[in-house]
Amino acid sequence: MYVVKYIKYGSEEYDRTLKLRNEVMYKPISKSMYDIDVSCEADQIIIGAFETNTMVRDLLIGIGILSYKGDNKWFVEYVCVDTVLQKKGVGSALMQCLEKIARDRGATVLGLDSRLATIDFYQRFGFVQKGEIFYKDIAPVGHVYMEKELPAIPKEIREHSHGCSCGCGGDHHHHHEH
Ligand SMILES: CC(C)(COP(=O)(O)OP(=O)(O)OC[C@H]1O[C@@H](n2cnc3c(N)ncnc32)[C@H](O)[C@@H]1OP(=O)(O)O)[C@@H](O)C(=O)NCCC(=O)NCCS
Repeated sequence: MYVVKYIKYGSEEYDRTLKLRNEVMYKPISKSMYDIDVSCEADQIIIGAFETNTMVRDLLIGIGILSYKGDNKWFVEYVCVDTVLQKKGVGSALMQCLEKIARDRGATVLGLDSRLATIDFYQRFGFVQKGEIFYKDIAPVGHVYMEKELPAIPKEIREHSHGCSCGCGGDHHHHHEH
């Protein structure tokens, strides 16, 4: 069982997001997360999935980051799940939380750069590939920009919705099978 919570930039939990990102996303391509300038994340929304099982309480098992690009456009980055706990729904829960958070802030477009290996994963949530394959210095594997349009939620409804139904910062618990 796990719960999704907000993570504060610079906290001990934040340091654990760097370690997780390094293990899951960068070590496999012989790169280091610690070579990336992450100072911009001070202004971004960071969420993490934490194990609630008493034996391994508070273990960070997945993360995702959301940033505002202006003009009601938001951008998803660094969605990753502990290698041994993938394919159990944690990544989907994180995607749903990130989308909900963006919608609640008035997002009409959600974008992301997907590695070629994860295009199918993002397509499940309605993201559509836009443009050509490109490479990043820090991650020299093929990427594609993907985008999802979100119907605008009327402001009155947004302001009266209670908490986050997917559990980010809330009390709802997600389950995964071990
Ligand atoms: C991509 C990732 C975040 C998905 O997280 P996850 O917890 O494994 O995802 P889920 O269990 O919620 O998967 C939901 C569905 O997508 C499928 N799926 C998961 N990863 C997939 C992938 N890479 N390609 C295609 N389908 C995938 C799952 O099989 C599952 O299908 P099902 O519902 O039919 O069983 C995770 O695998 C990961 O961290 N990968 C490595 C890091 C990475 O490359 N991140 C993206 C950077 S752009």
